[in-house]
Amino acid sequence: MILNRIIVSEDQISARVGELADEIDSAYFGQRVLIIGALKGAFVFVADLVRRMMTETEVDFLSLSSYGVDSRSSGTVETRLGLSSDITGRHVLIVDDILDTGVTLSHAVEVLKAQSPASVKVCVLLDKPERRIAQISADFIGFAIPDVFVVGYGMDYAERWRGLPYIADVS
Ligand code: IMP
Ligand code: MG
Repeated sequence: MILNRIIVSEDQISARVGELADEIDSAYFGQRVLIIGALKGAFVFVADLVRRMMTETEVDFLSLSSYGVDSRSSGTVETRLGLSSDITGRHVLIVDDILDTGVTLSHAVEVLKAQSPASVKVCVLLDKPERRIAQISADFIGFAIPDVFVVGYGMDYAERWRGLPYIADVS
């Protein structure tokens, strides 16, 4: 695998994260939000997003993985790391790096909704609509991108390139 070209630059990410923070602030005006970041890929996005938001936030993380026989998710999702927060009655915002097939996130939404939160919304930095299998759409989306494999800004290929400040495609 090699890095090809920059898909989203550092400046573009920064500008869009600021806009997303404003959108989220408007949606939750006057309320407190529990941000649940999806590890590991969303760790950089969560860190930047909460620093641009005015809304009072708490932050937790959840680790979910989906397994498939090929590169597409099979529908089997495993929770590898649980939440430390009680989400009953809370406004929950799941923050993830990429909405791809949607299998992982739709499972996460189901698991969280079973714990009686006041609301559950989803925010993703990137959306690959062409790849969708599960019935899910995000409430807040940074950028829609084509079906390419991307790394950087927290995202990896086999644990490489998470530290890049921009998003690039690999092949
Ligand atoms: P899905 O929506 O269940 O297919 O899984 C989405 C997850 O797969 C994302 O949260 C990422 O962790 C990972 N993923 C999907 N596409 C990419 C990519 O292009 N680069 C890095 N990780 C990806
Ligand atoms: Mg992920």
